[in-house]
Amino acid sequence: MSRMKSPLMFLLILTTITFATDHVCCQSIYASENPLPVGSNVTLYSQAVVTTGVWMFETNLIVMIFPGSIIIHDTWRDRVSYNSTSSALTIKSLRLGDSGLYTLQTVNSFRGQLTLSVQVPISNVTLKARATNLVEFNDTAVLMCSVSSGSSLSYVWLKGHHEVTAGGNVQLSNGNATLTIVSVTLYDEGPFKCSVSNGVSNEISPSVYLNISYGPSNTTMIIMPMVSPYIYRTGSNIMLSCTTVSKPPAMIQWMYNGMYLNEYGSQIQLYNITESDSGSYKCVFHNTVTSRFSSVSSMLWMLDPLEVVVVNHTGGPPILHEPFTLHCEVTGTVDRIQWWRNWQLISPNDTIIFNMNNKTMTFNPVQYSDNGQYRCQAFNSVSNMTSSPYTVDVKYGPGMPTIMGPSVAKTGYSITFSCHASSNPPSHYRWYFNDYPVANTSEYVTPPLTRNMSGMYTCLAYHDITGQNKTAYTMLTVVDPIEDVQVETTMYPPKEGYPYMLTCNVTGPADYIYWMKDGMKLHKDNRTVFNMDNKTVTFNPLKRNDTGYYNCMAMNAVGNMTSPPHKLLVYFGPETPVIHMPSFAETGQFVTFTCSAMSVPPSQISWWFNGTEVANTSVFTTHCLSLNMSGEYTCMAYNNVTGKNSTSFKMLTVIEAIESVMIKNNTIPIDTESFTLTCEVVGPYDMIYWMKDDMYLNINSSDANPHMHYHIENDTLHFTPVTMYNDGSYRCVAANQAAKHKSPTYMLLVNCEYCRKQC
Ligand SMILES: *[C@@H]1O[C@H](CO)[C@@H](O)[C@H](O)[C@H]1NC(C)=O
Ligand SMILES: *[C@@H]1O[C@H](CO)[C@@H](O)[C@H](O)[C@H]1NC(C)=O
Ligand SMILES: *[C@@H]1O[C@H](CO)[C@@H](O)[C@H](O)[C@H]1NC(C)=O
Ligand SMILES: *[C@@H]1O[C@H](CO)[C@@H](O)[C@H](O)[C@H]1NC(C)=O
Ligand SMILES: *[C@@H]1O[C@H](CO)[C@@H](O)[C@H](O)[C@H]1NC(C)=O
Ligand SMILES: *[C@@H]1O[C@H](CO)[C@@H](O)[C@H](O)[C@H]1NC(C)=O
Ligand SMILES: *[C@@H]1O[C@H](CO)[C@@H](O)[C@H](O)[C@H]1NC(C)=O
Ligand SMILES: *[C@@H]1O[C@H](CO)[C@@H](O)[C@H](O)[C@H]1NC(C)=O
Ligand SMILES: *[C@@H]1O[C@H](CO)[C@@H](O)[C@H](O)[C@H]1NC(C)=O
Ligand SMILES: *[C@@H]1O[C@H](CO)[C@@H](O)[C@H](O)[C@H]1NC(C)=O
Ligand SMILES: *[C@@H]1O[C@H](CO)[C@@H](O)[C@H](O)[C@H]1NC(C)=O
Ligand SMILES: *[C@@H]1O[C@H](CO)[C@@H](O)[C@H](O)[C@H]1NC(C)=O
Repeated sequence: MSRMKSPLMFLLILTTITFATDHVCCQSIYASENPLPVGSNVTLYSQAVVTTGVWMFETNLIVMIFPGSIIIHDTWRDRVSYNSTSSALTIKSLRLGDSGLYTLQTVNSFRGQLTLSVQVPISNVTLKARATNLVEFNDTAVLMCSVSSGSSLSYVWLKGHHEVTAGGNVQLSNGNATLTIVSVTLYDEGPFKCSVSNGVSNEISPSVYLNISYGPSNTTMIIMPMVSPYIYRTGSNIMLSCTTVSKPPAMIQWMYNGMYLNEYGSQIQLYNITESDSGSYKCVFHNTVTSRFSSVSSMLWMLDPLEVVVVNHTGGPPILHEPFTLHCEVTGTVDRIQWWRNWQLISPNDTIIFNMNNKTMTFNPVQYSDNGQYRCQAFNSVSNMTSSPYTVDVKYGPGMPTIMGPSVAKTGYSITFSCHASSNPPSHYRWYFNDYPVANTSEYVTPPLTRNMSGMYTCLAYHDITGQNKTAYTMLTVVDPIEDVQVETTMYPPKEGYPYMLTCNVTGPADYIYWMKDGMKLHKDNRTVFNMDNKTVTFNPLKRNDTGYYNCMAMNAVGNMTSPPHKLLVYFGPETPVIHMPSFAETGQFVTFTCSAMSVPPSQISWWFNGTEVANTSVFTTHCLSLNMSGEYTCMAYNNVTGKNSTSFKMLTVIEAIESVMIKNNTIPIDTESFTLTCEVVGPYDMIYWMKDDMYLNINSSDANPHMHYHIENDTLHFTPVTMYNDGSYRCVAANQAAKHKSPTYMLLVNCEYCRKQC
C-alpha cells in the first residue's frame, strides 16, 4: 500500500477515473450505522469488489484504490482505514462535519452513494415559561424549550399526556422550540413539557405547570324549597345558595335590595320569613386575582297566608224578587275567589253575577231557591281559606192574610180572631174594629160581646223588612142567645075530634123553631098545621094517637134550645064495651063477668040485669046460680070527661048441674079374660068420655095400642080381653054445656099368675 504523495498526483488520477462515470450507476453503499453520534466509528461498504476506484466525501477524495495499493488523502489519514479485501471504508472519531454524501467510484463500472448523518446527542433539555401564574383572557403564556447540546432538533409539546399542536390560540415558533398561548383560558391550565429529539437521541423536559386564574363565571343561585315563581308563605324557612366557577375561589358577599349584607358564605338561610323579607336577593362574587366580579340575583315574594275570610251582605237583607249582594271580605293578598252554596261550587249565570274579581256575588233577583249556606273561598299563592257559612234566608211577605174566627157570636161571650199571613220572618199584626185599633197581635180576643160590637174586623199584616203590608177583614154579627123555651097550651082538655093547639114560648131571638113528638121531628100533614113561623102547631081534629111527649126547639145563629117535654094526653071514648062471661053455667055456681071499654080517661062501668043495676064495677060476680038467673046481662061504660057512654050485652043460660061421676067394676081383672068398667053419673049430662093415664081413649080400640082390645058402649068400657097392657089409671068424664066433670081415678091392675111366676 502506498500513500498519495501530492495533490497534483491525486488530480491526475482523478481525471483518469472520472472517465467512466457515466456508465455504471447506483450500486448501494451501506453504513454500519446511520445516523450516528459524533465520536463514533462507521464502516461504509458495498457488495462490489473494487480493484480500481475512489472513496469520496462530497467532492473531496478520501482514498484512491489501485490494484495492489491504496492512497489515503492526508486530511483523512489519521481517521480512515480501508480494507482491500472487502473494499470497506472505516472512519473513526466522526465529527459533525463528516455528515454528507459519500461516493464509491470504480473505474468504468460502478458508482455508489450514501448520505451519512453525524449528529450531536441531545442533553439537558430545559423548559422555561415567561410566567406560570396567568389570568384567563388577559395573559399570553410563552413556553421556551432549550437544550445544552444537540443537533437537528425537532420538538413535540405535551400537556399532560396529550400532544399540543398549533391552532387556535396556540402558536409554535422558533423552530417549534417556543410555545405561545395567546389569551389563556382555564382549559389551558396544566403541566406542560417539551420533548426534543434528533436521529440519535430524545429527551423530555421537566414539566412546567401553568396556573390559570379564572372566573368568577357561570354564577347561579338556588333557592330551596324550589317554587316557581318565588312566592313563599310567611313563617317558613328558605335557603339561598350561590355557586360560581372561579379560581382562586371567589369571595362572596350578599346584597338585599341593593344593600350589602354582612353575609359572606355561599348560603344564607332565612328563618320565619315575613312579608317584609320580600325583595331582591343578590350574591356578588369577587376574584381578587382576576379582579373580576360576578353576581346573580333573584326576586323573592313573601306572602302572608290568608287569615280572615268572611261573608257578609252589602246593602239590605235578601228580599224576595229584589237584588241581593254577598260580599267576601278577605284580609291579605288574594288571587282568586270562589263561592260555594251548600258545598256546591257556584258558577255565575243569568241571575247570579260575580263582580270585583268575584269579591261580590249578586242575586238579581233573589229567589226562594237561593236559601242556603254560602261560603266564599279565597286563594293566594301560599294558602286558601274558606269562610264560615253565611245563611241566606230570603225575606218575603206578607201574603194576603187569612182570618180565622166566627162570623156570628153570642152576646156576653168573648171570641178569638186570629190572623195569619205567609211571611218570612213572621209579620206583625194589627186588628181594627170599624177602623179603631183594638190589638197588635195576630190573635185578638174580644171583650164580652155586646150587640153593638157587630161589624167589620180588619187584620193588617205588615213586614218591617220588606216594608209591605196587607189587610183582610171579616164581618161579625153578635146575637143574643136563646134563654128559655117552653111548650104551652091554653086549651083544656084535649078531646079527640076537636081542634087543639100547642104553642112554643121562646125567650130570646129565634131564627127557626121546629117541633118534635116522642123525639121525632113532627111534620105537617092535612091535620097537623104549623103557624106563626112554627110557633104554634094545631091538630085539627085531634086524634087519640096524637098522645105523646112534645118538645119544641128554637134555634138561632148562636145556639139552640129545646123545651122540656110537654105531655099531651088525648081524651076519647068509651068505645063499645067488651064483655067476658060464659054463655052457660050450672046451677049452684058463682060466675064472674068482666066488662071493659077503650076510653081515656077510663070509663065508669055498670052492670044491668032485667032493667036493674046489679053492679057498678067492671068485674061482677053473681050470687049462687039458679035456673031463673038465665037472661040478658048489659054492661054500660061512661066517660065523664067526654060525657059519652056506650053499652053492650050478653046472654047467660043456667042449666042443671052434674052432681057426681064414679067408675065401678063388677069383676076382678084377670089376664086374658073379659073385663068391664062402668061410669055412674048423677045428674043430666050430654056425653061420657073415657081416659087412661090422663089421655082420652078413642072409641075405636084398634087406633090405640095393638095389644089393647076394648070397646065403649054407652056408659061402659069393655076389655076383650083384659091384659097387662091395660094396666093404668082410668077416669070417666061426664060433660054438659057448661062443664066437664071427671070421676076419681080407678087403678086397673090385671091379675096374672103366669106373669108373677116369671118375676
Ligand atoms: C474506534 O476504533 C479505535 C481503533 O480501531 C478504537 O480504539 C475505538 O474504541 C473505536 N471507537 C468506538 C466508539 O468504537
Ligand atoms: C479485511 O476484510 C476481510 C473480509 O471481509 C477480512 O477477513 C479481514 O480481516 C479484513 N482485514 C482487516 C485488517 O481488518
Ligand atoms: C444545562 O444547561 C443549563 C443552562 O442551559 C446549564 O446551566 C447547566 O450547567 C447545564 N448542565 C449540563 C450538565 O450541561
Ligand atoms: C385584564 O385586562 C383588562 C383589559 O383588557 C384590564 O383592565 C385588567 O386589569 C386586566 N387584569 C389583570 C389582572 O391584569
Ligand atoms: C415544527 O413542528 C411541526 C409539527 O408540529 C412540523 O411540521 C414542522 O416542520 C416543525 N418545524 C421545524 C422548523 O422543525
Ligand atoms: C359556563 O357556561 C358556559 C355557557 O353556559 C358553558 O359552555 C361552560 O362550559 C360553563 N363553564 C363551566 C366551568 O361550567
Ligand atoms: C315567627 O315570627 C313571628 C312574628 O313575625 C313570631 O310571632 C313567631 O313566634 C315566630 N315563630 C318562630 C318559630 O320563631
Ligand atoms: C255585616 O254587615 C252588617 C251591615 O251590612 C254589619 O252590621 C255587620 O256587623 C257585618 N257583620 C260582619 C260579621 O262583618
Ligand atoms: C271567579 O269565579 C269563577 C267561578 O268560580 C272562576 O272560574 C274564576 O276563576 C273566578 N275569578 C277570580 C278572579 O277569582
Ligand atoms: C243560577 O244558578 C243557581 C245555583 O247555582 C240556580 O239556583 C239558578 O236557578 C240558576 N239560574 C239560572 C237562570 O240558571
Ligand atoms: C287549600 O288549603 C288546604 C290546606 O289549608 C290544602 O290542603 C288544599 O289542597 C288547598 N286547596 C286548594 C284547591 O289549593
Ligand atoms: C201600609 O202600606 C201603605 C202603602 O202601601 C202605607 O201607606 C201605609 O202607611 C202602610 N201602613 C202601615 C201600618 O205600615
